[in-house]
Amino acid sequence: MELLARIREALSSELNPNGILEILKREHQEASALMDLVEQSHPGGRARTATFEKLASSLLAHLAGEDDVLYPALEKLEGTHDMALEAREEHHVIELLVAELRAEQTRGEAWMAKFHVLTENVEHHVREEEEKFFPKSRTVLAVELQVEMAAAYAIARDGHLAEQNQAGARSRGR
Ligand SMILES: [Fe+2]
Ligand SMILES: [Fe+2]
Repeated sequence: MELLARIREALSSELNPNGILEILKREHQEASALMDLVEQSHPGGRARTATFEKLASSLLAHLAGEDDVLYPALEKLEGTHDMALEAREEHHVIELLVAELRAEQTRGEAWMAKFHVLTENVEHHVREEEEKFFPKSRTVLAVELQVEMAAAYAIARDGHLAEQNQAGARSRGR
């Protein structure tokens, strides 16, 4: 990231610790920690499945919350329109990979190969967001709006999480 963008980023997060972009960055760190835990888990063990499920549900809720709250606002603005469209497509690829990983019963070597493709896609997407998309967003979204969006995002994300938990409970009860 260029120096000016880094300074702007640091200043803005200090002024605006409760803005949507700060929440999203914290969740990126959580996802990264969960991906490491899956990586270190025993092949086929219960911990692998449990940790992956935690990652999958929080990641999908994060993507859906961004799709609902952040991206629509940025798609309307000239400076961020194309980036937002591309980011949505990256979400789509991540969602497909998560669905395939969830559907797979055996979680050994082949599963791990696909999981690595997921982590590469997530890491790439997070890098694009944090190094290009979010710094650009700070220049087009007012600080007050970023705080309002944080509240709307939390509601959207939690709604998606609850939906997934219900769907999970239904499929377990079958
Ligand atoms: Fe994100
Ligand atoms: Fe995203």
